[in-house]
Amino acid sequence: MGQMAESLDVVILAAGKGTRMRSRRPKVLHPLAGLPLLEYSIRAALALAPARTVVVVGFGGDEVRAAFSGRPLQFVDQGDPRGTGHALLVAKPALSARRTLVLPGDVPLVPPAALRALLSYHAEAGAELSFLTMEPPDPRAYGRVVREDGRPVRIVEAQDATADERAIREVNSGIYCLTNTPHLWQALAGLSTDNAKAEYYLTDLVAVFARRGKAAALLWPHAEDLMGINDRVDLARAEAALRTRLLTALMQAGVTVVDPATVYISPDATVGPDTVLHPGTHLLGHTAIGGGCAIGPGAYLVDTEVEAGARVWYSVLEGAYVGPAAQIGPYAHLRPGARIGAGARVGNFVEVKAAFIGEGAKVSHLAYIGDAEVGAGANIGAGTITCNLQPGRKEKQRTEIGPGAFIGSNAALVAPVRIGEGAVVGAGSVITEDVPPYALAVERSPQVVKPGWAKERGEQG
Ligand code: UD1
Ligand code: CA
Repeated sequence: MGQMAESLDVVILAAGKGTRMRSRRPKVLHPLAGLPLLEYSIRAALALAPARTVVVVGFGGDEVRAAFSGRPLQFVDQGDPRGTGHALLVAKPALSARRTLVLPGDVPLVPPAALRALLSYHAEAGAELSFLTMEPPDPRAYGRVVREDGRPVRIVEAQDATADERAIREVNSGIYCLTNTPHLWQALAGLSTDNAKAEYYLTDLVAVFARRGKAAALLWPHAEDLMGINDRVDLARAEAALRTRLLTALMQAGVTVVDPATVYISPDATVGPDTVLHPGTHLLGHTAIGGGCAIGPGAYLVDTEVEAGARVWYSVLEGAYVGPAAQIGPYAHLRPGARIGAGARVGNFVEVKAAFIGEGAKVSHLAYIGDAEVGAGANIGAGTITCNLQPGRKEKQRTEIGPGAFIGSNAALVAPVRIGEGAVVGAGSVITEDVPPYALAVERSPQVVKPGWAKERGEQG
C-alpha cells in the first residue's frame, strides 16, 4: 500500500541528435500527428502526477526548451550527448524522489497504463531496477533482453549482439523504474564506453542490478505501444498507428469515418456523435466539431470550432468559428477571426478574415470579407470586396453591413464604411460613404447608348 504512495520523479531523455533522422532539427521536435514527438512523453509523464519532470536536453537544446517553455518541466543540459547512461547521470542533481521513472523522448505511443503497470511491478518484484519489454514483430535495432531462469540478466544492444542474441525476440523499451539509492549513482558513474557506439549505455545497469537480484523486467503485451522512433520510416509507422487509434476512438464514440485511410486528426481535436467525416478531411490543432455535422470531402481545419449540424466541404478553415447548421464551401477560405453565424452560407471562392457573418446571411460567390460585420440575413452579391486596407494606414479599416442589407454584385465597399439595415447597394458600385438604412446607393456612370453605332461604323469601314 505505502509503496504506491512512494514519491516519483520522471526523467525524459531528449538530448540525442537523432542521427538516423538525417535532419537539422532535433529528433524530438519532429511532428507526430502535428505535435512534437517529445510532447507525447511529456504528457505520459504528467499523467502520473510526479513530484517533478526533468527533461535532459543536448543537441538543439535551446530549440527544445523553447518549444516547451511554460510547462511544468525542469531542463537539464547534457552538453555533448555521450549515451543514455550519461544522460541519466546528468539529471542526478535534479532528482530527490524515492523512485525515478526514465522515459525516452522517442517512444511516443506509451500509454500511462503501461507506466503504472511498471511502477506496480517494481514494488511487487522488490526490484531496484525494473524495465518494460516487448516482443515486436521485427526486433531490428532494439536492445535484446537476455534472461536466465526467467530472470533478466542483461541487455545487449543489437550492434553488440551475437547472432544468437540477435535472435532473441524480447527487447528493451527504454523505459525504466529505478529506486533512488547511492548504489544506483555509483553504478551509473561506473559504466564504461567499451561498446560498438563508444557510449555510456544505460542498459548496462541491468547486469549490475541482476547480480544483486534486484533487476526485474515486465513484458508489455502490446509492442506497438512501446515503439521507438529512430528514423523517418519509424515516424511514418507511428503516424499510421496513432491515426488508427484516434479514428478508432472516434468511430467507437459515434462518428462515421467513411475512409479512415484518408482522414487526418490531431490528438487534441474532438468530434461529436453522428458527424460524418468524408475522405480528405484534416482536423488539426485544437479543432472541435459538434454533433451531426458533415465534414469533407476535402476539408482542412486548424484550431477551428464547428457547431452542430454544420456542413464544411472542399474548404480551408484556420482559427475560425462556424455556427450551428452553417454551410461552408465548396471552396471557401476562413482565416483567423472568421465567425460564421447560425445557418449562414459561405462558399464558391469566398475568403473571410476577422469578420462576423450574421445568422442566415449569404456570401455565396467570389467575395472577400475582411474586418467586417455582416448583419443577420444580409445577402452579399458575387464579387463583393471589403476594401479594408487604405494607402498610408497601418490598421485595417472596418466595414459594417446591417441586417437584411443587399449588396449587389461586384461592389467595392471602401472601409471604413457602414451600410445600414435593409439598405441596397447597386451592382458595380464603389461605396465610399455610409449608406442609411433602407436606402438605395448606386455609384456608377450612367449607361451611354448610341443607336446604330456599330452598324454605321461597319459601313464606314
Ligand atoms: C535505446 C536502448 C535500447 C532500446 C531502445 C528502445 C540504450 C543504449 N539502448 O536504444 O536498448 O531497445 O532505446 O527504444 O539505451 N539520449 C540522450 N542522450 C544521449 C543519448 C540518447 O538523451 O546521450 C536520448 C535520445 O534523445 C532518445 C533516447 O535517449 O530520446 C534513446 O536514445 P537512442 O539513441 O534513440 O537509443 P536507441 O538506439 O533507440
Ligand atoms: Ca531510440
